[in-house]
Parts: sequence; C-alpha cells; structure tokens
Amino acid sequence: METLILSGEKAIKLGAELIKAGEVVAFPTETVYGLGGNALDSACIAKIYQAKGRPADNPLIVHIAKVEDIYPLVSEFSERNKRVVEKLMPGPITVLFPKSDIVPDSVTAGLKTVGIRMPKMAIARKFIEACGVPIAAPSANASTRVSPTTASHVYEDMKGRIPLIIDGGDSDVGIESTVVDLTGEIPTILRPGAITAEMLAEVVGSVRTHKGEVISSAPAPGMKYKHYAPTVPMVVASDMKALIEEYDRQVALDKKPLCLIRGQAIDILGDRKFINLGDSDYEVCRNIYKSMRDAEKVCDYIICIYLEGSEICKSVMNRVLKASGGKIV
Ligand code: TXA
Ligand code: MG
Repeated sequence: METLILSGEKAIKLGAELIKAGEVVAFPTETVYGLGGNALDSACIAKIYQAKGRPADNPLIVHIAKVEDIYPLVSEFSERNKRVVEKLMPGPITVLFPKSDIVPDSVTAGLKTVGIRMPKMAIARKFIEACGVPIAAPSANASTRVSPTTASHVYEDMKGRIPLIIDGGDSDVGIESTVVDLTGEIPTILRPGAITAEMLAEVVGSVRTHKGEVISSAPAPGMKYKHYAPTVPMVVASDMKALIEEYDRQVALDKKPLCLIRGQAIDILGDRKFINLGDSDYEVCRNIYKSMRDAEKVCDYIICIYLEGSEICKSVMNRVLKASGGKIV
C-alpha cells in the first residue's frame, strides 16, 4: 500500500472519504498524531490495532469534534462532568465516562468506560467533523515506539500500512493528553499531561493524581494566601493553659503580648493583658477584626484563644487561623 502525506483541505476531504470507506488515516492533534478509524465499526478498530501492532487489551480513545457528540457515546453525564467538558474541552485532556452500547467492546478493550477527547487543533476537529463519525485513535506510532509529533514521524512507523497521513505540522503540546477517570466520586488522573491536577481541581474541587495524592483547589481565589493579618505576629492557643504558658514565655523574651479571649475566661488570666472578644459567638464574630486592630496598636504579639462553638464560630476561626498563618501553640 502506498502511504500519501497531504495537507490542507484536500487532505481532509480524502481522509474523510477513506474513513467512510472503513480505512485508517493518521491525523494531527495538538498533543501527538493519532491513527484514526471509525469508532463505531469493529472491523476498522481491528485494522488500527493491526497497523500499530498494539495488544488488543489496551483501549483506544474516541475523538469528537463538538460537545454534543459525547451524548450518544456515554450512558451517564453528571453536572460535575459536564463542567469538566465545558471548561477543559477542547484541549489536551481525555475523560473516561461509562460507555453506551453503541461503542464496540473492541474500542474499550472490554472495559465499561470509554475515553473521550476533543482536540483543540482546528485541522483535527475539521477532519473529525468531515468524517461524520466519532474517531477512535491511539497515538500514530508503532507499538513500543515513541509518539509522533510530525507527519514524518508517522511515516517512519506507518509507511505501507495506511493509505494517508494528514500533515498538520508540528504538534504544539508534544506529549499525549491527560487521561482522567470521571466515573468515581473523586476524579482520578491515570496519565498526567498538559492539563494538570491543579487545573482540574479548579473545576471539580478535589482530584486524585496519578501518584495517588488527593489535591484540592482553593475554594475561592485568594483563599490560599495569608489574609486579614494584623501588623504584629499572632498565634492561636489551643486552650487557656497553652495561652498562659505562651504569654509568660513571650514576657520572658521581653515581648509585650496580649490575649484575645472570651469573657468567661478573664478570671484565670491574673494581671496578664487581654481584650475581651465577648461571651456569645455572635459577639466574638462582631468583635474579632476590631480587636485585632486594637491589639496591634498596644502590643507586639497577639495570642488568640482557639474559639470553639457554633458554625459562626468556625467561620471566625477560619479568619483567625489565616491571620496567624495557621500557627497554633
Ligand atoms: O493525546 C492523546 O491522547 C493521543 C491523541 C492521538 O489523542 N492519543 C493517545 O492514545 O495517546 P494512546 O492510545 O496512545 O493512549 C491512550 C491511553 C492508553 O494508555 C490507554 O490505556 C488509556 O489511554 N485509555 C484509553 N481508554 C481507556 C479506558 N477506558 N480506561 C482506562 N484507560 C484508557
Ligand atoms: Mg500511545
């Protein structure tokens, strides 16, 4: 078989005709080149495995041109997963969904999930669109060789095995897509790529990396920075005993500490300096910022008691812990 290398509109047109005739065509994407065939045609899938020399137990990614093309391929599409698709596709990411019945078992190597990718590169999407069917494609290298990022790399491996290579120049990203399993409660990265765990966490909250760590996004921009900090150092004391010990330690260091405490605790402080945050959780909430500002003017070290109580108290503690850089004594 002669292997053509073509670019531009005529390459896309011929490529689509070949796909419709059940052939395998190599095409460019922003990650690496793919070896594409009709994902809904088992005979074509067999040709892909054969051209690549790939073991049949390694599933193929299904490529689409637009978001709506996902629906027929999957049996479940949650709001969370919709967000991932809307925010990160098209792009260098492959997402695993529970597969629908129209996806042949040979594409997924018998798995119940299907990997779906919408490339960002315009030629890739034009080609898939022109084919009119979803395109199953592994990277266009021969099995065990490195993934191709130019048409000539593909030619080295696929010469005589496929009829056409669509030349789209160099692949921009240069490594294969991030593969992420969206079927579980926490999305899990199976293969890292240009879409990072942090980028995913921005969209879904928590992500398990390919190394098994769970990373979480900051709930709102800026939450990861130290905020609301007074102009003097501040620590949180876990209880009154720790607070008194820390106070006395600072005095011994020639510091002028001051405590932020609840009204009920005043009696056990002796003559140590303090500001009373109030008795109820609402008072404490109302007074916390004001008390920090007042304190920084008259001392050089603030010790705030760990405030336990209602939800509102937890919100106050969130600010107090930020102000103290999370330092607890
Ligand atoms: O960037 C890419 O992803 C490129 C371009 C052409 O899209 N494709 C690519 O395909 O790298 P391939 O076949 O070389 O790598 C796909 C990876 C394999 O490791 C495969 O096991 C995994 O994705 N994979 C695909 N479907 C899967 C599934 N349902 N469950 C688990 N892993 C899957
Ligand atoms: Mg590969």
